[in-house]
Amino acid sequence: MVSEQTAAQVLVASNRGPVSYTLSKDGSLDARRGGGGLVSGLSAIGSEADALWVCAALGDGDREAVRRGVGEPGVLMLDIDPAVHSDAYNGIANSVLWFVHHMLYQTPLEPVFDAEFRRQWASYETYNQAFADALAAHAAEGAAVLVQDYHLALVPGMLRERRPDLRIGHFSHTPWAPVDYFRMLPDDIAEQLLRGLLGADRTCFLTRRWADAFTACCAEVLGADSLAGTRIGVHGLGADADFLRERAHRPDVAERMAALREQVGPGRKTIVRVDRTELSKNIVRGLLAFRQLLMARPEWRERVVHVAFAYPSRQDLAVYRDYTAEVQRLADEINSAYGTATWTPVVLHVKDDFARSLAAYRLADVALVNPIRDGMNLVAKEIPVVSDEGCVLVLSREAGAYEELGEDAVVVNPYDVMATADALHEALTMPDDERSRHTKRLAAAATALPPQQWFLEQLQALRQG
Ligand code: F6P
Repeated sequence: MVSEQTAAQVLVASNRGPVSYTLSKDGSLDARRGGGGLVSGLSAIGSEADALWVCAALGDGDREAVRRGVGEPGVLMLDIDPAVHSDAYNGIANSVLWFVHHMLYQTPLEPVFDAEFRRQWASYETYNQAFADALAAHAAEGAAVLVQDYHLALVPGMLRERRPDLRIGHFSHTPWAPVDYFRMLPDDIAEQLLRGLLGADRTCFLTRRWADAFTACCAEVLGADSLAGTRIGVHGLGADADFLRERAHRPDVAERMAALREQVGPGRKTIVRVDRTELSKNIVRGLLAFRQLLMARPEWRERVVHVAFAYPSRQDLAVYRDYTAEVQRLADEINSAYGTATWTPVVLHVKDDFARSLAAYRLADVALVNPIRDGMNLVAKEIPVVSDEGCVLVLSREAGAYEELGEDAVVVNPYDVMATADALHEALTMPDDERSRHTKRLAAAATALPPQQWFLEQLQALRQG
């Protein structure tokens, strides 16, 4: 039975919510709104009456906010046991599911599905149950529920059992693994994950390629009939042009542009990348390609700077910390091998600063987006939208964004460092008129489905059945 007071008509569920809290030394709580396309897209839920966003409390600040009853209207934070959350988020979501869908395992040593994995899997189930319980308790009769991402893959099935009246959607923001790779998972776990998602009325992906991989897994693991009750949707999240253009022209961005110009030096070209320091982003091979460019084409020495922003991500996991250290080490090595008194070849920043990212977006001559695999990659879509003078996009064919932007980018195989170095050279030498033509087309393609529309399109499709 749903109480009048808590009955929401539209619900979103995601691990990370739209707001997070930090606990200051004086005991006060500071709220910070999250950025990025996912939050801005899902924030369109705010325009819906009787909406609720269910998320997890992620740190001490969030948990304290829950205890004190502090929160934003329309947001429900779940205070899940920190040990259970850590097993589910760090252990299963980010060390297993993320690795499977981004094909990051270094076989033959990984993966190993042992007793520890089974213990963490039980936590993943508990964590998914906590979401299913909360959604079941707060959804009005026949409400629409949009569940997000690999953290919550079991929720649609669990929720369907509790509340068959609901319209349930699931959206994967990652790639989906090819069937042979997916089948590395133990058979019962692979089945459970697929059945969990098939509990939804609509299961959605960022590109046709990921949707097809999912249906291939269902057919192979569960049989061809398994898809009968679920529709598959493809909604390619785009950049938020209005927000980005306004934000990129504020004074704090202008200040950072001046500082960056000084770091780069007059008359030099810039190759910009902006990522979370995350293994799938392929930052190390990007640096190797830049080094190869300087080695093979000495004419670029003193004339180009690689501006690399690699912001900390998932630092609870050793493999991410090691990767971050390797990025730093390689950047230092390139600077000591090639740098001069007046030229630093790699300008690496590791402290998250959105205004500085926008400054780099505006200044970039070349944008390097070379992930091993990526659900979409919004940086590839954002840079052409705010670029001042036009920017050539060097883009991995394994990024979801390739489906929409590939025709106007210099496309690379992300593993091929030599070809990436050649692509950087091609991008740096592209004539101005060609570069400007491609940038305009990239910006148009990148903004075809802005976040708010992306959300409303899914909601409408879910309600229509
Ligand atoms: O790409 C999948 C995703 O969940 C995104 O939706 C999100 O931007 C990113 O990963 C961030 O991950 P985390 O919450 O672990 O920082």
